[in-house]
Amino acid sequence: MVTPFSRRVGDTMDSFIMSLVDVAARPGMISFATGLPDNSLFDTEGLARAVSEILAEDPYGPLQYDSASGYIPLRKRIARRCRDKFGFDVSYEDVFMTNGSQECFDQLGKMFLDRGDRMVVENPGYLGAIQSFSAYGPEFIGVDMTPEGVDTRQLAAALAERPKLFYSIPNHQNPSGTSYSEDVRKRVTDAVRGSGCLLIEDDAYGELGYGGRVGRTMKSMLPDETVMCGSFSKTISPGMRVGWMIVPEWMREAAGKSIESSFLQSNTFCQKVIDRFMEDNDYDRYLDGLRRGYMEKKRIFMDALQDNLPSTMRWNDPDGGMFIWLRTPDGTDSTELFELLIERGLVVMPGKPFHTRGGANTLRLNFATPSEEQIADGTAILGRACRELFPE
Ligand SMILES: Cc1ncc(COP(=O)(O)O)c(C=O)c1O
Repeated sequence: MVTPFSRRVGDTMDSFIMSLVDVAARPGMISFATGLPDNSLFDTEGLARAVSEILAEDPYGPLQYDSASGYIPLRKRIARRCRDKFGFDVSYEDVFMTNGSQECFDQLGKMFLDRGDRMVVENPGYLGAIQSFSAYGPEFIGVDMTPEGVDTRQLAAALAERPKLFYSIPNHQNPSGTSYSEDVRKRVTDAVRGSGCLLIEDDAYGELGYGGRVGRTMKSMLPDETVMCGSFSKTISPGMRVGWMIVPEWMREAAGKSIESSFLQSNTFCQKVIDRFMEDNDYDRYLDGLRRGYMEKKRIFMDALQDNLPSTMRWNDPDGGMFIWLRTPDGTDSTELFELLIERGLVVMPGKPFHTRGGANTLRLNFATPSEEQIADGTAILGRACRELFPE
Protein backbone atom coordinates (compact mmCIF):
# COMPACT_ATOMS: atom_id res chain seq x y z
CA MET A 1 0.00 0.00 0.00
CA VAL A 2 1.33 3.45 -0.85
CA THR A 3 0.87 6.54 1.32
CA PRO A 4 -2.29 8.43 0.32
CA PHE A 5 -1.86 11.99 -0.88
CA SER A 6 -3.33 14.87 1.09
CA ARG A 7 -6.72 16.27 0.08
CA ARG A 8 -4.79 19.31 -1.13
CA VAL A 9 -3.19 17.26 -3.92
CA GLY A 10 -6.61 16.11 -5.07
CA ASP A 11 -8.06 19.62 -4.82
CA THR A 12 -5.34 21.22 -6.98
CA MET A 13 -6.68 21.85 -10.48
CA ASP A 14 -4.80 20.99 -13.66
CA SER A 15 -3.53 24.16 -15.25
CA PHE A 16 -3.08 23.13 -18.87
CA ILE A 17 -0.42 25.84 -19.16
CA MET A 18 2.61 23.67 -18.42
CA SER A 19 1.41 20.84 -20.67
CA LEU A 20 1.28 23.36 -23.52
CA VAL A 21 4.83 24.49 -22.72
CA ASP A 22 5.88 20.88 -23.49
CA VAL A 23 3.85 20.81 -26.72
CA ALA A 24 5.33 24.17 -27.73
CA ALA A 25 8.86 22.77 -27.21
CA ARG A 26 8.38 20.10 -29.94
CA PRO A 27 10.74 20.73 -32.87
CA GLY A 28 9.25 22.97 -35.55
CA MET A 29 6.23 23.99 -33.45
CA ILE A 30 5.20 27.64 -33.48
CA SER A 31 3.77 28.81 -30.18
CA PHE A 32 1.28 31.58 -29.52
CA ALA A 33 0.28 29.70 -26.37
CA THR A 34 2.25 30.61 -23.27
CA GLY A 35 2.96 33.95 -21.58
CA LEU A 36 6.69 34.15 -22.21
CA PRO A 37 8.20 37.61 -22.72
CA ASP A 38 10.08 38.46 -25.92
CA ASN A 39 13.67 37.13 -25.61
CA SER A 40 14.96 40.01 -27.72
CA LEU A 41 13.75 42.52 -25.12
CA PHE A 42 15.78 41.09 -22.23
CA ASP A 43 18.61 43.48 -21.33
CA THR A 44 21.24 40.77 -21.11
CA GLU A 45 24.17 43.21 -21.08
CA GLY A 46 22.66 45.36 -18.36
CA LEU A 47 21.96 42.30 -16.22
CA ALA A 48 25.48 40.89 -16.79
CA ARG A 49 26.90 44.25 -15.69
CA ALA A 50 24.75 44.23 -12.54
CA VAL A 51 25.91 40.68 -11.72
CA SER A 52 29.59 41.56 -12.02
CA GLU A 53 29.19 44.78 -10.06
CA ILE A 54 27.49 43.16 -7.08
CA LEU A 55 29.98 40.28 -6.98
CA ALA A 56 32.96 42.64 -7.29
CA GLU A 57 31.69 44.79 -4.43
CA ASP A 58 30.73 41.94 -2.12
CA PRO A 59 31.50 38.41 -3.32
CA TYR A 60 29.71 36.71 -0.40
CA GLY A 61 26.58 38.74 0.35
CA PRO A 62 24.67 37.83 -2.85
CA LEU A 63 25.40 34.16 -2.20
CA GLN A 64 24.22 34.21 1.42
CA TYR A 65 20.89 33.80 3.19
CA ASP A 66 19.09 37.08 3.79
CA SER A 67 15.97 38.30 5.58
CA ALA A 68 12.78 36.21 5.15
CA SER A 69 10.94 39.29 3.90
CA GLY A 70 13.53 40.06 1.23
CA TYR A 71 16.44 42.36 0.41
CA ILE A 72 15.73 45.65 2.19
CA PRO A 73 17.09 48.09 -0.46
CA LEU A 74 14.90 46.45 -3.13
CA ARG A 75 11.86 46.53 -0.83
CA LYS A 76 12.55 50.24 -0.17
CA ARG A 77 12.84 50.84 -3.91
CA ILE A 78 9.46 49.17 -4.49
CA ALA A 79 7.92 51.21 -1.63
CA ARG A 80 9.29 54.43 -3.23
CA ARG A 81 7.76 53.46 -6.56
CA CYS A 82 4.40 52.94 -4.81
CA ARG A 83 4.65 56.49 -3.46
CA ASP A 84 5.90 58.09 -6.69
CA LYS A 85 3.88 56.17 -9.30
CA PHE A 86 1.13 54.06 -7.72
CA GLY A 87 -0.47 56.71 -5.50
CA PHE A 88 -0.06 55.23 -2.03
CA ASP A 89 2.39 55.37 0.84
CA VAL A 90 3.69 52.14 2.25
CA SER A 91 6.49 51.12 4.58
CA TYR A 92 9.06 48.79 3.06
CA GLU A 93 8.21 46.49 5.99
CA ASP A 94 4.91 45.74 4.27
CA VAL A 95 6.65 44.73 1.02
CA PHE A 96 7.40 40.97 1.01
CA MET A 97 9.58 39.48 -1.72
CA THR A 98 8.44 36.17 -3.21
CA ASN A 99 9.47 33.66 -5.88
CA GLY A 100 7.59 35.40 -8.66
CA SER A 101 4.08 36.65 -7.99
CA GLN A 102 2.77 33.08 -8.34
CA GLU A 103 4.18 32.48 -4.86
CA CYS A 104 1.96 35.31 -3.50
CA PHE A 105 -1.15 33.38 -4.50
CA ASP A 106 -0.03 30.31 -2.62
CA GLN A 107 0.86 32.40 0.43
CA LEU A 108 -2.49 34.19 0.38
CA GLY A 109 -4.33 30.90 -0.05
CA LYS A 110 -2.40 29.46 2.87
CA MET A 111 -3.07 32.48 5.07
CA PHE A 112 -6.77 32.89 4.34
CA LEU A 113 -8.46 29.85 2.85
CA ASP A 114 -9.86 26.83 4.61
CA ARG A 115 -11.51 24.15 2.53
CA GLY A 116 -15.02 25.28 1.49
CA ASP A 117 -14.37 29.00 2.03
CA ARG A 118 -15.67 31.14 -0.80
CA MET A 119 -13.46 33.21 -3.06
CA VAL A 120 -14.34 35.45 -6.01
CA VAL A 121 -12.46 35.19 -9.30
CA GLU A 122 -12.89 36.94 -12.61
CA ASN A 123 -14.59 34.99 -15.41
CA PRO A 124 -12.44 34.56 -17.42
CA GLY A 125 -9.56 34.85 -14.95
CA TYR A 126 -5.89 33.99 -14.76
CA LEU A 127 -5.70 30.22 -14.68
CA GLY A 128 -2.27 30.00 -12.99
CA ALA A 129 -3.50 31.94 -9.96
CA ILE A 130 -6.79 30.04 -9.79
CA GLN A 131 -4.86 26.77 -9.86
CA SER A 132 -2.68 28.01 -7.00
CA PHE A 133 -5.71 28.97 -4.87
CA SER A 134 -7.44 25.70 -5.73
CA ALA A 135 -4.96 23.77 -3.55
CA TYR A 136 -6.71 25.26 -0.50
CA GLY A 137 -10.11 23.93 -1.60
CA PRO A 138 -12.14 27.15 -1.91
CA GLU A 139 -15.50 27.34 -3.60
CA PHE A 140 -14.90 29.72 -6.52
CA ILE A 141 -17.53 32.30 -7.44
CA GLY A 142 -16.95 33.54 -11.00
CA VAL A 143 -17.83 37.13 -11.83
CA ASP A 144 -18.01 37.96 -15.53
CA MET A 145 -15.67 40.38 -17.22
CA THR A 146 -17.22 43.14 -19.35
CA PRO A 147 -15.34 45.48 -21.70
CA GLU A 148 -15.11 47.94 -18.75
CA GLY A 149 -13.74 45.40 -16.27
CA VAL A 150 -15.41 43.10 -13.80
CA ASP A 151 -19.24 43.15 -13.68
CA THR A 152 -19.83 45.10 -10.48
CA ARG A 153 -23.46 43.95 -10.09
CA GLN A 154 -22.36 40.35 -10.10
CA LEU A 155 -19.54 41.28 -7.74
CA ALA A 156 -22.01 42.80 -5.26
CA ALA A 157 -24.08 39.59 -5.36
CA ALA A 158 -20.93 37.51 -4.88
CA LEU A 159 -19.83 39.62 -1.90
CA ALA A 160 -23.18 38.94 -0.25
CA GLU A 161 -22.06 35.30 -0.05
CA ARG A 162 -19.24 36.40 2.24
CA PRO A 163 -16.18 35.33 0.26
CA LYS A 164 -12.81 35.73 1.92
CA LEU A 165 -10.84 36.82 -1.16
CA PHE A 166 -11.42 38.53 -4.49
CA TYR A 167 -8.60 37.97 -6.99
CA SER A 168 -8.54 40.68 -9.67
CA ILE A 169 -6.28 41.85 -12.49
CA PRO A 170 -7.34 45.43 -13.22
CA ASN A 171 -4.67 46.17 -15.86
CA HIS A 172 -4.42 44.30 -19.21
CA GLN A 173 -5.94 41.19 -17.77
CA ASN A 174 -4.59 37.77 -18.59
CA PRO A 175 -6.30 36.33 -20.62
CA SER A 176 -8.76 38.89 -22.03
CA GLY A 177 -6.52 42.00 -22.19
CA THR A 178 -9.30 44.04 -20.55
CA SER A 179 -8.52 46.86 -18.09
CA TYR A 180 -10.92 48.18 -15.48
CA SER A 181 -12.32 51.67 -16.14
CA GLU A 182 -11.92 54.29 -13.39
CA ASP A 183 -15.59 53.90 -12.61
CA VAL A 184 -15.27 50.12 -12.16
CA ARG A 185 -12.21 50.56 -9.92
CA LYS A 186 -14.20 52.90 -7.72
CA ARG A 187 -17.25 50.64 -7.64
CA VAL A 188 -15.13 47.58 -6.84
CA THR A 189 -13.31 49.27 -3.95
CA ASP A 190 -16.58 50.73 -2.61
CA ALA A 191 -18.20 47.28 -2.71
CA VAL A 192 -15.29 45.51 -1.04
CA ARG A 193 -14.82 48.15 1.68
CA GLY A 194 -15.98 46.75 5.02
CA SER A 195 -17.28 43.51 3.45
CA GLY A 196 -14.75 41.26 5.18
CA CYS A 197 -13.33 40.22 1.79
CA LEU A 198 -9.68 40.92 1.03
CA LEU A 199 -9.04 42.40 -2.43
CA ILE A 200 -6.03 40.94 -4.27
CA GLU A 201 -4.83 43.32 -6.97
CA ASP A 202 -2.52 41.49 -9.36
CA ASP A 203 -0.44 44.10 -11.19
CA ALA A 204 1.56 41.67 -13.36
CA TYR A 205 1.04 43.77 -16.51
CA GLY A 206 0.45 47.19 -14.90
CA GLU A 207 3.84 48.50 -16.04
CA LEU A 208 3.27 47.24 -19.58
CA GLY A 209 0.56 49.69 -20.64
CA TYR A 210 1.76 50.98 -24.01
CA GLY A 211 0.62 54.49 -23.15
CA GLY A 212 1.69 54.20 -19.48
CA ARG A 213 -0.46 53.01 -16.59
CA VAL A 214 -4.13 52.82 -17.45
CA GLY A 215 -5.73 53.67 -14.13
CA ARG A 216 -5.35 54.30 -10.42
CA THR A 217 -4.25 51.38 -8.28
CA MET A 218 -7.06 49.92 -6.18
CA LYS A 219 -4.52 49.62 -3.36
CA SER A 220 -4.42 53.45 -3.28
CA MET A 221 -8.23 53.52 -3.05
CA LEU A 222 -8.61 50.80 -0.42
CA PRO A 223 -5.21 50.44 1.30
CA ASP A 224 -6.21 48.45 4.39
CA GLU A 225 -8.24 45.84 2.56
CA THR A 226 -6.02 45.26 -0.49
CA VAL A 227 -2.93 43.16 -1.14
CA MET A 228 -1.13 44.28 -4.28
CA CYS A 229 1.00 41.65 -6.05
CA GLY A 230 3.81 42.63 -8.40
CA SER A 231 6.54 40.94 -10.38
CA PHE A 232 9.67 41.62 -12.40
CA SER A 233 8.80 38.63 -14.62
CA LYS A 234 7.23 40.63 -17.42
CA THR A 235 9.57 43.62 -17.14
CA ILE A 236 13.05 42.19 -16.37
CA SER A 237 13.10 38.38 -16.40
CA PRO A 238 10.69 35.59 -15.41
CA GLY A 239 13.55 33.13 -14.92
CA MET A 240 14.90 35.19 -12.01
CA ARG A 241 11.62 34.53 -10.15
CA VAL A 242 11.40 37.82 -8.26
CA GLY A 243 7.94 39.03 -7.27
CA TRP A 244 6.43 40.70 -4.23
CA MET A 245 3.27 41.39 -2.30
CA ILE A 246 2.38 44.62 -0.55
CA VAL A 247 0.21 43.84 2.43
CA PRO A 248 -1.79 46.00 4.86
CA GLU A 249 0.08 46.51 8.14
CA TRP A 250 -2.31 44.18 10.03
CA MET A 251 -1.06 41.28 7.83
CA ARG A 252 2.65 42.00 8.33
CA GLU A 253 3.37 39.44 11.03
CA ALA A 254 1.28 36.65 9.45
CA ALA A 255 2.88 37.25 6.04
CA GLY A 256 6.41 37.04 7.50
CA LYS A 257 5.59 33.80 9.30
CA SER A 258 3.88 32.28 6.27
CA ILE A 259 6.82 33.04 3.96
CA GLU A 260 9.44 31.82 6.41
CA SER A 261 7.62 28.55 6.98
CA SER A 262 7.18 27.95 3.23
CA PHE A 263 10.53 28.83 1.71
CA LEU A 264 12.64 30.72 4.30
CA GLN A 265 13.23 33.58 1.85
CA SER A 266 13.32 34.19 -1.87
CA ASN A 267 16.45 34.29 -4.02
CA THR A 268 18.99 36.73 -2.51
CA PHE A 269 21.18 36.74 -5.60
CA CYS A 270 18.47 37.73 -8.07
CA GLN A 271 16.98 40.34 -5.77
CA LYS A 272 20.39 42.00 -5.51
CA VAL A 273 20.95 41.81 -9.28
CA ILE A 274 17.57 43.42 -9.93
CA ASP A 275 18.17 46.12 -7.34
CA ARG A 276 21.51 46.97 -8.96
CA PHE A 277 20.00 46.86 -12.45
CA MET A 278 17.41 49.42 -11.33
CA GLU A 279 20.11 51.54 -9.69
CA ASP A 280 22.23 51.53 -12.87
CA ASN A 281 19.36 52.32 -15.23
CA ASP A 282 16.63 54.92 -15.49
CA TYR A 283 13.86 52.37 -14.91
CA ASP A 284 11.12 54.50 -16.45
CA ARG A 285 13.15 55.00 -19.61
CA TYR A 286 13.88 51.30 -19.68
CA LEU A 287 10.16 50.53 -19.33
CA ASP A 288 9.36 52.98 -22.15
CA GLY A 289 11.67 51.00 -24.44
CA LEU A 290 9.98 47.77 -23.42
CA ARG A 291 6.50 49.19 -24.01
CA ARG A 292 7.54 50.44 -27.45
CA GLY A 293 8.93 46.99 -28.24
CA TYR A 294 5.69 45.23 -27.26
CA MET A 295 3.51 47.79 -28.99
CA GLU A 296 5.44 47.25 -32.22
CA LYS A 297 5.19 43.47 -31.84
CA LYS A 298 1.46 43.77 -31.28
CA ARG A 299 1.09 45.93 -34.40
CA ILE A 300 2.86 43.28 -36.50
CA PHE A 301 0.63 40.57 -35.02
CA MET A 302 -2.57 42.57 -35.51
CA ASP A 303 -1.67 43.30 -39.14
CA ALA A 304 -1.02 39.59 -39.71
CA LEU A 305 -4.39 38.66 -38.16
CA GLN A 306 -6.11 41.25 -40.32
CA ASP A 307 -4.43 39.81 -43.44
CA ASN A 308 -5.09 36.15 -42.64
CA LEU A 309 -8.25 35.66 -40.60
CA PRO A 310 -11.75 35.37 -42.07
CA SER A 311 -14.46 37.85 -41.09
CA THR A 312 -16.13 35.15 -38.95
CA MET A 313 -13.42 35.64 -36.30
CA ARG A 314 -13.29 38.52 -33.81
CA TRP A 315 -10.44 39.78 -31.66
CA ASN A 316 -9.53 42.74 -29.44
CA ASP A 317 -6.79 45.38 -29.78
CA PRO A 318 -5.10 45.43 -26.35
CA ASP A 319 -3.47 48.62 -25.03
CA GLY A 320 -0.94 46.73 -22.92
CA GLY A 321 0.30 43.30 -21.90
CA MET A 322 1.10 40.41 -24.22
CA PHE A 323 -2.15 38.80 -25.28
CA ILE A 324 -4.84 38.98 -27.93
CA TRP A 325 -8.21 37.45 -27.12
CA LEU A 326 -9.74 35.70 -30.10
CA ARG A 327 -13.33 34.51 -30.54
CA THR A 328 -14.68 31.92 -32.93
CA PRO A 329 -18.34 32.51 -33.94
CA ASP A 330 -20.96 32.50 -31.16
CA GLY A 331 -22.18 29.01 -30.32
CA THR A 332 -19.02 27.30 -31.66
CA ASP A 333 -16.36 25.50 -29.65
CA SER A 334 -12.70 26.38 -30.24
CA THR A 335 -11.46 22.91 -29.22
CA GLU A 336 -11.63 21.57 -32.77
CA LEU A 337 -9.62 24.55 -33.99
CA PHE A 338 -7.07 24.07 -31.19
CA GLU A 339 -6.59 20.40 -32.14
CA LEU A 340 -6.36 21.07 -35.86
CA LEU A 341 -3.75 23.78 -35.24
CA ILE A 342 -1.56 21.41 -33.21
CA GLU A 343 -1.63 18.91 -36.11
CA ARG A 344 -0.45 21.72 -38.39
CA GLY A 345 2.37 22.96 -36.14
CA LEU A 346 0.80 25.85 -34.21
CA VAL A 347 -0.08 25.81 -30.52
CA VAL A 348 -2.49 28.36 -29.06
CA MET A 349 -4.17 28.54 -25.65
CA PRO A 350 -7.86 27.57 -25.52
CA GLY A 351 -9.88 30.10 -23.56
CA LYS A 352 -12.23 27.69 -21.80
CA PRO A 353 -9.84 26.66 -18.98
CA PHE A 354 -9.71 30.34 -17.88
CA HIS A 355 -13.46 30.30 -17.28
CA THR A 356 -15.59 29.23 -14.34
CA ARG A 357 -18.46 29.08 -16.88
CA GLY A 358 -18.83 29.63 -20.63
CA GLY A 359 -15.96 30.70 -22.87
CA ALA A 360 -16.02 27.69 -25.22
CA ASN A 361 -15.50 29.91 -28.26
CA THR A 362 -12.44 31.79 -26.99
CA LEU A 363 -8.67 31.47 -27.50
CA ARG A 364 -5.69 33.39 -26.13
CA LEU A 365 -2.80 34.33 -28.41
CA ASN A 366 0.55 35.57 -27.11
CA PHE A 367 2.20 37.96 -29.57
CA ALA A 368 5.30 38.58 -27.41
CA THR A 369 7.06 35.22 -27.75
CA PRO A 370 7.06 34.43 -31.51
CA SER A 371 9.53 35.99 -33.94
CA GLU A 372 8.20 38.05 -36.86
CA GLU A 373 8.70 35.07 -39.15
CA GLN A 374 6.78 32.81 -36.76
CA ILE A 375 4.00 35.41 -36.56
CA ALA A 376 3.70 35.40 -40.36
CA ASP A 377 3.76 31.58 -40.62
CA GLY A 378 1.59 30.98 -37.53
CA THR A 379 -1.15 33.44 -38.48
CA ALA A 380 -1.22 31.91 -42.00
CA ILE A 381 -1.79 28.46 -40.43
CA LEU A 382 -4.42 29.95 -38.13
CA GLY A 383 -6.16 31.75 -41.00
CA ARG A 384 -6.37 28.61 -43.17
CA ALA A 385 -7.78 26.53 -40.30
CA CYS A 386 -10.34 29.22 -39.39
CA ARG A 387 -11.50 29.45 -43.02
CA GLU A 388 -12.00 25.69 -43.11
CA LEU A 389 -13.89 25.46 -39.81
CA PHE A 390 -15.69 28.83 -39.83
CA PRO A 391 -16.16 29.84 -43.49
CA GLU A 392 -17.41 33.31 -44.41
C1 LIG B 1 -1.74 37.83 -14.48
C2 LIG B 1 -0.54 37.08 -14.03
N1 LIG B 1 -0.23 37.06 -12.73
C3 LIG B 1 0.82 36.39 -12.27
C4 LIG B 1 1.63 35.68 -13.12
C5 LIG B 1 2.78 34.90 -12.52
O1 LIG B 1 3.99 35.47 -12.86
P1 LIG B 1 5.30 35.30 -12.02
O2 LIG B 1 5.12 34.24 -10.99
O3 LIG B 1 6.33 34.94 -13.02
O4 LIG B 1 5.53 36.64 -11.37
C6 LIG B 1 1.37 35.66 -14.49
C7 LIG B 1 2.21 34.88 -15.41
O5 LIG B 1 1.99 34.75 -16.57
C8 LIG B 1 0.25 36.37 -14.95
O6 LIG B 1 -0.08 36.39 -16.24
